[in-house]
Amino acid sequence: MKKQLPQHIAIIMDGNGRWAEVRGRNRTFGHLRGARVAREMIEACSELGIENLTLYTFSSENWLRPLEEVSFLMALLSRHLKRERANLVKNNIQFQAIGELSRLPQSVLDEVEATTEATSACTGMKLTFALSYGGRQDIIGAVKSLVAEGVPADQIDEAAIESRLLTKGMCDPDLIIRTSGESRLSNFFLWQSAYSEIYITPTLWPNYDESELNKALEWYRTRERRFGRTTAQLNQQKSSGQKRDQVPELAPPQ
Ligand code: FPP
Repeated sequence: MKKQLPQHIAIIMDGNGRWAEVRGRNRTFGHLRGARVAREMIEACSELGIENLTLYTFSSENWLRPLEEVSFLMALLSRHLKRERANLVKNNIQFQAIGELSRLPQSVLDEVEATTEATSACTGMKLTFALSYGGRQDIIGAVKSLVAEGVPADQIDEAAIESRLLTKGMCDPDLIIRTSGESRLSNFFLWQSAYSEIYITPTLWPNYDESELNKALEWYRTRERRFGRTTAQLNQQKSSGQKRDQVPELAPPQ
C-alpha cells in the first residue's frame, strides 16, 4: 500500500568530493561512485511507486568548477545516459532534463535527447535531471517570458509564473532530500520548494542507499503538512473527507 508516499521526491546529491578526498582519492572517484548510487536510487524510487523523482545533477554554479572536473562530469553524464537508456525503458521510467541545456556540450545534449526520446512513451515514474539548472535562473526565465508575451501586471499570479517555469506541468516536490549535512538549497527549486518538507542527512551521497531513503520516507510520514493553515483546520478538512494537501479557497477577508 502507498502509505503517505511523497508524489515528488527531489534530491540534492552532495558529498561526492569529500567522500573521495577522505579516501585519498581524486574528487572524480566520488562522482563515479555518485553516479552508481543515482542509478540505484532511481530504481528504488521507481519500485516504491514514486511518481516523480528529480535529481539535482549539475547546477548553474557547477560550471565554475575547475575545467577538468566539469569535463569529467560531462563525460560521466553522457556515458551514464547512454548506458542507462535501456534500463529506463525496461523499468517504464520517463526521462527529461531541465535547465540551461544549451550550455551543455553536444555529446551530452545528444544523449539527453536520445534518452528523452527513447523513454517518451514510458508511463511509470517521471525522472528529471536538473542539469545546468539554477532556481534563480528558472524564475528569471519565467519573468522574461511574461514580459515578452506582454502579460499585464494584474494577470500575473502564481499560476502565470508556474506555467512559465521549467517545471511547468509537474507537481512541486513534497520531499527534498539533501545529503552531506549541508542545510541549504544551493539555488535548487527556489520557487517550487515553498511547501516542501526538507530532509537533511549527514550521509555523503556515495554512501546513500535504500535504508537511508527509507529513513527519509519514515520521517516524511511524521510530518504534518499544513500549507500555512492550523492543525485544527487540517483535522476539520480531514473529517470532511478532503485530501490533506488540498488547499481550499481562502475565505475573503472580513
Ligand atoms: C555534489 O558533490 C555532486 C555534484 C556536483 C552533482 C551530482 C553528480 C553526481 C551524483 C554524479 C553524476 C550523476 C549522474 C546521475 C550521472 P560535490 O562534488 O559537491 O561534493 P563535495 O561537496 O563533497 O565537494
